[in-house]
Amino acid sequence: MNKPRLNIGIVGYGFMGRTHSNAFRRVPNFFDVPYEPVLKAICGRNQARAEAFQQTWGYESVETDWRKLVGRRDIDVIDIASPNDTHAEVAIAAAQAGKAVLCEKPLGRNAAESKAIVAAAEKAGVPNMVWYNYRRVPAVRLAKELIGEGRLGRVFHYRAKFLQDWTISKDLPQGGEALWRLDAAVAGSGVTGDLLAHCIDTAIWLNGFIDSVAAVTETFIKERKHNLTGKIQEVGIDDASTFLARFANGSLGNFEATRYALGHKALYTLEINGENASIIWDLEDLHRLQYFDYRDEGKLRGWRSIHITDGDHPYMKHWWVPGLQIGYEHTFVHQAADFLCGLAEGNVPGPSFLDGLATDYVTDAVLTAAKSSAWEKVGNPQ
Ligand SMILES: NC(=O)c1ccc[n+]([C@@H]2O[C@H](COP(=O)([O-])OP(=O)(O)OC[C@H]3O[C@@H](n4cnc5c(N)ncnc54)[C@H](O)[C@@H]3O)[C@@H](O)[C@H]2O)c1
Repeated sequence: MNKPRLNIGIVGYGFMGRTHSNAFRRVPNFFDVPYEPVLKAICGRNQARAEAFQQTWGYESVETDWRKLVGRRDIDVIDIASPNDTHAEVAIAAAQAGKAVLCEKPLGRNAAESKAIVAAAEKAGVPNMVWYNYRRVPAVRLAKELIGEGRLGRVFHYRAKFLQDWTISKDLPQGGEALWRLDAAVAGSGVTGDLLAHCIDTAIWLNGFIDSVAAVTETFIKERKHNLTGKIQEVGIDDASTFLARFANGSLGNFEATRYALGHKALYTLEINGENASIIWDLEDLHRLQYFDYRDEGKLRGWRSIHITDGDHPYMKHWWVPGLQIGYEHTFVHQAADFLCGLAEGNVPGPSFLDGLATDYVTDAVLTAAKSSAWEKVGNPQ
């Protein structure tokens, strides 16, 4: 039986434009989804490059102005894969046009922008989701299941870090197409909104809301040439950000992100210590979950390194055979699958825009705490 077609229009043909296109292309081959996702239109400002992307991924059409894309009647879903300064404008217009809206993280450049996005989506009553894709790493989802089953007991500590090393050179310019992440006006913040946002979303999902934070941030290189003006300009982003947190459940959090950790490209790790058991996960070894359970028989007690490739592990029965692992791009395929199934049931799973706002409240509080040198309360998204 033919499935109903769901027409998708993606804004942005960069890194995330590729991961999302790949996800919607592959998802019907591996998951029994209730729609046939159609790559209807790719939107980017450069016609020739958008057309090249269209050829590579098999899009039906090209737009060079996101407003035209949002205005098209034959588009059901607007998927925002463009830099952070575009998220609010596009998401609000898309919600007002009655589209389902998917948006890359962080939802807004700050909580005020995210609040406006949430309000528009709620007013229009449109399905929405933020691409915090690490929730859909099978090992991280297994961690969620283990916590949900109460195996850890009371949680004492949550520890996460996200380390990179690509901005160390003082000769690296800021701004423009390739380096918008270094331009505070476009990105909103530095590693706090970019890298820590991932850690915070996973943390809230696994361990509940964060109540208050104390933080330090640093901008190691104070001035860089701006790609758009050609002038040496002050750098407005945080290069490194470290914060302590108190979770609503009484546990303590310890978070760090930097782009100045030489040798690390994308080292995202998390560790949770409970009264009965502990969990460790590492993006560089993403198909493994480390699990220690004190209730194991004493002489055998120790860390288990669970290879998350079996059919009874989250998502894995859709892929190959036990023992064969998957990678980064599959997290987006999983999110696309969950979105399509949730859409048909009228219940799109998180992370919702409201979840995206919850993370932005934390990143705002981290940046405020770094300035005030005091503990700051985190805003409540509810
Ligand atoms: N979920 C993740 O793991 C993850 C990873 C990387 C980036 N991101 C997020 O995805 C978003 C995009 O990041 P990226 O790495 O793909 O960036 P990128 O620079 O690789 O691509 C951005 C694309 O957006 C296009 N663009 C910019 N302004 C536009 C406009 N007004 N209209 C249409 N297109 C426009 C650019 O031309 C480019 O094609 C950001 O919000 C980023 O934070 C998420």
